[in-house]
Amino acid sequence: MNEEGHRVAVVTGGASGIGLAMARQFVSEGMKVVIGDVESGALDIAVRQFQDAGVIGVRADVTRHDDVVALCEEAVRAFGRVDVVCANAGVETGGRFLDVATEAWRWVMEVNYFGVLTTARVAVPLLERFGGGDLVITGSLAGFASGTPFMTPYCASKMAVLGLAECLEIELRSCGSAVHVHLLAPGPVRSRMIDAERNAPAGVPIDEDAERRAFMEDFRARQSAEGLPAEDVALLVSRAIRDREFFVLPHHDRAVAALRRRLDWVENGVVPGSRVAGS
Ligand SMILES: NC(=O)c1ccc[n+]([C@@H]2O[C@H](COP(=O)([O-])OP(=O)(O)OC[C@H]3O[C@@H](n4cnc5c(N)ncnc54)[C@H](O)[C@@H]3O)[C@@H](O)[C@H]2O)c1
Repeated sequence: MNEEGHRVAVVTGGASGIGLAMARQFVSEGMKVVIGDVESGALDIAVRQFQDAGVIGVRADVTRHDDVVALCEEAVRAFGRVDVVCANAGVETGGRFLDVATEAWRWVMEVNYFGVLTTARVAVPLLERFGGGDLVITGSLAGFASGTPFMTPYCASKMAVLGLAECLEIELRSCGSAVHVHLLAPGPVRSRMIDAERNAPAGVPIDEDAERRAFMEDFRARQSAEGLPAEDVALLVSRAIRDREFFVLPHHDRAVAALRRRLDWVENGVVPGSRVAGS
């Protein structure tokens, strides 16, 4: 706790969706919060929602190491310490494997994987400096359930995040660290994720092909029909921090089913649909 008795959280990608809901949850628990986001307009609107809670917004692009450092330093400058860091910023793009431009692949990996990696590398020593704390990494059910067609960059990035989070947590435990990792891996959640390409840097070509558009629109419809409220997800994150649980699985049954399916694939040596008839 800082001198005023507050715990302090930093949330990347905190201007919208799950990140914003986590910020709101932390504020409701009396924590001080610093939100980082690449989208300045959304960041200003988000911070205005918390007028009396002293939430600070910092324009920070997680693909830039210096931005992540400056974001965390702002929390220390303003509130004296950091207890929780949420490596949450993420983007998605979809399309047929060969139609997704290399630049779009790189963008998704830069934000979803290297952005998490950078945030974790800044967060672990920072949290240790203040006696330990919690690193919440936002992965996805897509990290468990591969085999989602037209989503290869996103699925690959979230599988990489799963590997990073698991290995890091095991390493921290084996070293006796007071930093704990939590992997949030939701299925559909209502947010602006389907419009993630709004944040694609100039030079990332977005395929406007009709088939791809139809896929994205179908994805949007499913997400708004099936999606959980981001607030429900944020509450589970808060409980996982309290209870020191590694996995935060808002769609627990789907995650377990996905892992069973994977085990089946491993045991049978095939991905369903990949075997040529008669072979
Ligand atoms: N919504 C879902 O169904 C769902 C499911 C599983 C996982 N997730 C994950 O949840 C996380 C949050 O996404 P969301 O659903 O709230 O979407 P969202 O688009 O509402 O929020 C994502 C936020 O990240 C910000 N952002 C994008 N690029 C950034 C960058 N380079 N640096 C800093 N901020 C950046 C965006 O401006 C936005 O405010 C992502 O990691 C996403 O992959 C979402």
